Amino acid sequence: MASLGYEVIVVDVDPEKIEQFNQGTVPFFEPGLTDLFRTVRQSQRLLFTTDLTKIADCDINFLCIGTPQSSAGFSADLSALERAFNSVIASAKVGSLIVGKSTVPVGTAERLAKVISTQKKKLTLNWNPEFLREGHAVSDTLEPNRIVIGAEAQENAEKLADFYKSISPKAPQFITNFPTAELVKVAANAFLATKISFINAMSEVADATGADVTVLADAIGVDDRIGRKFLGSGIGFGGGCLPKDIRAFLARADELELGETLAFLKEFDLINQRARTRAVAVALKELGNPKGKKVAILGAAFKPESDDIRDSPALEIAETLSTLGANVVITDPQALHSAAAKLPKLTYNDSVTETLRGADLTMLLTEWGAYRSLDPVQVIELVKTPTIFDGRNVLDVKTWQVAGWKLLALGRTF
Ligand code: UDX
Repeated sequence: MASLGYEVIVVDVDPEKIEQFNQGTVPFFEPGLTDLFRTVRQSQRLLFTTDLTKIADCDINFLCIGTPQSSAGFSADLSALERAFNSVIASAKVGSLIVGKSTVPVGTAERLAKVISTQKKKLTLNWNPEFLREGHAVSDTLEPNRIVIGAEAQENAEKLADFYKSISPKAPQFITNFPTAELVKVAANAFLATKISFINAMSEVADATGADVTVLADAIGVDDRIGRKFLGSGIGFGGGCLPKDIRAFLARADELELGETLAFLKEFDLINQRARTRAVAVALKELGNPKGKKVAILGAAFKPESDDIRDSPALEIAETLSTLGANVVITDPQALHSAAAKLPKLTYNDSVTETLRGADLTMLLTEWGAYRSLDPVQVIELVKTPTIFDGRNVLDVKTWQVAGWKLLALGRTF
């Protein structure tokens, strides 16, 4: 927003993060963000602070607060959002707009709007879900594929609608009520999770029948009513959104006595979890007794182009094999620091060569470009046993086989 000419104040409760931004460093990996940040920083339109009173002159206040899975169950933990909301309404300018970006259980915005209506400040609440994908955050923000605004009345959404028209005149806008806006976001993520789990269910069927799930995905995907996107089979979805969003949706459905309606999501969550255990089973079948066997893990992040390791399938598989006694070494182009902070007992190496050296089994678990383009002829010299598990079904089977590798995967036999 600062790059588009707006004056922006970023407030966070974490002084370390704010300090890093003030020093000119983006404290996480997101392609293109560091360059954009450095350019915009010079414009002086971007201020980072822990002092919320600095928002006193702002016309629009965006709440970009995480709503993680609660420690007690499937529901979303709204405590950070509620704390931020209460602080913001206390410091916000009279007549200003509060915009919720967080993914929340349906009904939250209506509840927060009631709190605002008891204030004398004439604040307005909009709910405006965020659809950006990690790894594509900059382009998804500058060129959003849609804008959804939930408000109590059409006229309450006009200011934000105009604001987005200035950013992205082409993006279709959906101005609607609060529950619809909240639901668009959770429904979108539930649908994406459904597509991935559907293909991973087909992968289980393929394993039992000798079919090839990748050919199946290609062949059903050419039908544009189905589409090939998000039919990537393998070790399944992770990250800070899809897993916790379908669980929070399930928890909310139970509260609304709609448990049966969304019960399919519980199955899709289980299919997704099973993809990880199926990968471990393939590794164990190959290794025999895993004790002391070296397993090279390519990828720790939950997806490529990100250093996010929240609910990462790759890391969970690595951790399980390590617990079973294998000598697991993990490499990743960006996520080693975050992985080591979460699981310090595992072994990490930033060199792909050293990770592969002497490996009894190689597992490609996050499909970074650098791993997809490995030369099988070159790297075969490094490993002890040339067996690779392609956890994302991205390698060219023939090229690897011709080079002398044995390939393993879910939902296909070679
Ligand atoms: C998701 C939504 O895509 C985004 O719109 C929303 O705002 C936030 O949640 P993100 O979590 O960044 O975005 O990742 P996404 O690209 O959706 O991938 C999620 C997971 O699914 C990753 O672990 C990825 O590896 C996996 N995936 C994706 C598959 O297993 N198969 C696929 O075909 C696609």
